Amino acid sequence: MDMTTSRVDSAFKDDVLRCFEREIYAIPARWLYDRQGSELFEQITDLAEYYPTRTETDLLKRYSAEVTEMTGSNRAVIEFGSGSSTKTPHLLRAADPAAYVPIDISGEFLAHSAAQLQQQFPDLAIYPLEADFMRRLNLPDEVKDMPKLGFFPGSTIGNMIARTSVDLLRFMRETLGLGSQLLIGFDRVKDTDTLVAAYDDSAGVTAEFSLNLLHRINRELDSDIAVDQFRHVAVWNDLFARIEIYLEAQSDVCFSIDNRSFNLAKGQQIHIENSHKYGLRDARLMLRAGGWSPVCEWSDERDYFSLVLAKADAFKHAP
Ligand code: TRP
Repeated sequence: MDMTTSRVDSAFKDDVLRCFEREIYAIPARWLYDRQGSELFEQITDLAEYYPTRTETDLLKRYSAEVTEMTGSNRAVIEFGSGSSTKTPHLLRAADPAAYVPIDISGEFLAHSAAQLQQQFPDLAIYPLEADFMRRLNLPDEVKDMPKLGFFPGSTIGNMIARTSVDLLRFMRETLGLGSQLLIGFDRVKDTDTLVAAYDDSAGVTAEFSLNLLHRINRELDSDIAVDQFRHVAVWNDLFARIEIYLEAQSDVCFSIDNRSFNLAKGQQIHIENSHKYGLRDARLMLRAGGWSPVCEWSDERDYFSLVLAKADAFKHAP
């Protein structure tokens, strides 16, 4: 666990070596978010082309009061993957929660954003939980008996393949318990040009964000990849209803990692992210597959993004 003693994160190294050694050419997207990557992603959220963050934040500003009419106030709000918690204040202001539990895998991020929120909401009981939310969790004792509202914004569910999303929704149901509710963001299917532009902006910030992964490999794994020989590729896969992001070699390249040398042929792509998009009924089906009954949903005028409220009912016998 202690990353301070060794400079190299061995899980990162394993994932990168697996990509090139086994020639499966995919690197998990979580490695995009080192310090530089996180800063670049913040810049992405400000781009004209990147509509998701702006649209979801507007929905929360506009509809948090309505959400609270449906859920009732005084619940414990449990946020999965809270990150910098920038969207959360809009919900907290309306929901007037009994407690707030931000869950994030990065303890550093968590402490910082919890402290900031505490300043904004001095009377709110905040219990940060450093954990991987992809498994069943033990919530802090203080909130165990409170009615709960899970919060999973950002269409983060879209970065998982369907079976993983369903696993996660089932874990969330177990973690939160019967009678709990979940407010979750889904990015919607829309015209291909808008989708592709959101993942390949004209200023090239998204390309820089993707290519930072190769820079990170060079920085942290003492590698010598010629990053300028790669390009960022964003394509819409209609069959899977998702944007796929690749890094593509523009010429034959060779490099070494950990004293092992690798060659990539021109045109070879490394898969680094999926971002699934949903029709409203797709979103509801996904929720139901994970044990959540849709209650209500809110979308912007263009139907670019939706917030869906769902609840964890007791399972009834199917007819
Ligand atoms: N979760 C973000 C999304 O799917 C991540 C993201 C935005 C991203 N732009 C990207 C990931 C470009 C890789 C490359 O919208």
